Amino acid sequence: MITMVEYVHQRVLTYQFDIGVDFTMGNGNDTVFLAQHCREVYAFDIQPMALEMTKKRLIPSSNVHLILDSHEYMDQYLTTFDVGIFNLGYLPNASHQITTMLSSTQKAVQKAIQLMKKALFIVVYPGHEQGYQESLWIDDFVSSLDAHQYHVSCFRMMNKNKAPYVIEIEKKQSMLL
Ligand SMILES: C[S@@+](CC[C@H](N)C(=O)[O-])C[C@H]1O[C@@H](n2cnc3c(N)ncnc32)[C@H](O)[C@@H]1O
Repeated sequence: MITMVEYVHQRVLTYQFDIGVDFTMGNGNDTVFLAQHCREVYAFDIQPMALEMTKKRLIPSSNVHLILDSHEYMDQYLTTFDVGIFNLGYLPNASHQITTMLSSTQKAVQKAIQLMKKALFIVVYPGHEQGYQESLWIDDFVSSLDAHQYHVSCFRMMNKNKAPYVIEIEKKQSMLL
């Protein structure tokens, strides 16, 4: 079975896009992927280590903006984007105390939905306490999005409790007219 990250990348490629955002840079897997396919990329993380690791993996270019700031402040750096990826939780190879937190995730996801033109992907990890709290809020929140404006779908394993899963929020293109 493909990983959740591979699944997200496959799904991202079904859209036409110019500007991509990695809201949780970490080791840079999503940033590097977006840099290969976007005209412009914005990537956020609160850990300097994430920016250092990601920078090493990128071909030097001016179209990738590595931003040391919390994703909830995205609107200080960009006004709109086509596709965005949240990969919630903590970096496996770093402190597990530095993880995405419910209150900033709530603000960031709501802002991202306002700014995105095509699609937003959220990889949720309910297997740890903070991730479980995020999953409760996210499931509830995305279920309440207006079906006239958004398609919301979920990719998850049905026989593995608390396994990570992917939420895809697609903005209906008729809403942009
Ligand atoms: C699961 S990791 C992301 C993995 C990453 N996509 C990759 O390819 O390696 C989650 C990342 O989110 C970062 N993070 C936590 N809170 C954040 C916040 N408020 N804003 C931006 N990044 C945050 C963590 O520092 C961590 O690097």
